[in-house]
Amino acid sequence: MADVDRESVLRVLRAVKDRDLRRDIVSLNFVRDLEVNGSEVSFRLVLNTPVSPGKAGLEQAAREAVLSIGGVKAVKISLQSEIPKSPAADGKQSVPGVSNIVAVSSGKGGVGKSTVAVNLAIALSQFGARVGLLDTDMYGPNVPIMVGINEEPAVRGQKLLPHLAHGVKVMSLGFLNRGDKPVVWRGPMLHTAVRQFLYDVEWGDLDYLIVDMPPGTGDAQLSLAQLVPVQGAVLVTTPQEVAMADVRKAFNMFEQVHIPVLGIVENMSYFVCPNCSERHEIFGSGGGQELARRFKSNLLGEIPLSVSVREGGDIGIPIVVGAPDSMQAAAFKQIAENVATQISISSLKGGALPIIDMSDSRGDRFTV
Ligand SMILES: Nc1ncnc2c1ncn2[C@@H]1O[C@H](COP(=O)(O)OP(=O)(O)O)[C@@H](O)[C@H]1O
Ligand SMILES: [Mg+2]
Repeated sequence: MADVDRESVLRVLRAVKDRDLRRDIVSLNFVRDLEVNGSEVSFRLVLNTPVSPGKAGLEQAAREAVLSIGGVKAVKISLQSEIPKSPAADGKQSVPGVSNIVAVSSGKGGVGKSTVAVNLAIALSQFGARVGLLDTDMYGPNVPIMVGINEEPAVRGQKLLPHLAHGVKVMSLGFLNRGDKPVVWRGPMLHTAVRQFLYDVEWGDLDYLIVDMPPGTGDAQLSLAQLVPVQGAVLVTTPQEVAMADVRKAFNMFEQVHIPVLGIVENMSYFVCPNCSERHEIFGSGGGQELARRFKSNLLGEIPLSVSVREGGDIGIPIVVGAPDSMQAAAFKQIAENVATQISISSLKGGALPIIDMSDSRGDRFTV
């Protein structure tokens, strides 16, 4: 029998689309090192996001497409990922080795920013990405408790070594200023601290550095925006109507400092009863979607108000580690996947973020 024709393999692969990116895997340059050996086809499938559960199906779709060609007996696919690096920005100094910096912010405190930052960072690393987590809340750093580490970081040469927690490299002022000593910061000191945490920490090679911001629209956000290229911001909010004005302020601030908002996370969006696991829509449903529409942004996900989420934070074992198969962990993982997708979209488009409807992103993502 004649060898399988390389062009026919490419033709069927051109019909396999990443629905999030709305493009086929050949034009996305996901298909590399294609080899046809008699009746055997092999290639590397290189995604531009981590291999999250929603993306893993792309391999299956590609395999089925190639197997549908007459004469193909075996398909070998090596699934890999290469996270794009955000472009350099004028007047800003990238952190060596760090590809994408993502700020997790909100208009006000207590909405679950740190909880989202911690679980987002760990979920991305569970998908295989190299991830760091920087806590820039100098007034009330609570990341150390949430990841269960209370030790001073080691120093190598002139640099601080981040701690490793649940697969993520973590740095927080809380590691340095342990105990309850209050810290009084003035603007310039805060700026210096943020700068040191970016450049004087040995982050190594990271696909994502997630930055947990202090509440509000203040100095730390400004420092971050001035110092480094920030790929995007994740805005955390709660469903109450009162949070709206704060969300608007946060949007305005990021617009002013030219940081694109990747989308909104609605936290404490519904209640999961610990006894019956039933979902109760305390604030009504669809609030997050409506909010995203109003701000012409994306809804990255909704997280339930649930005892296990809080407990996970209190004992230093975040829910994505402590109960990885729970619906709460699934909500965080969906957000991690959507954040990675938004970053890949913006890197493909050179910065401009189209609005994509994530509401059906749990459905089948790939079309053949
Ligand atoms: N979805 C949730 N369900 C239950 N408790 C939550 C949830 N999200 C956050 N919390 C709790 O609310 C408190 C504030 O959250 P935190 O992440 O520290 O907020 P922020 O960083 O915005 O100030 C913490 O005790 C945290 O455990
Ligand atoms: Mg916080």
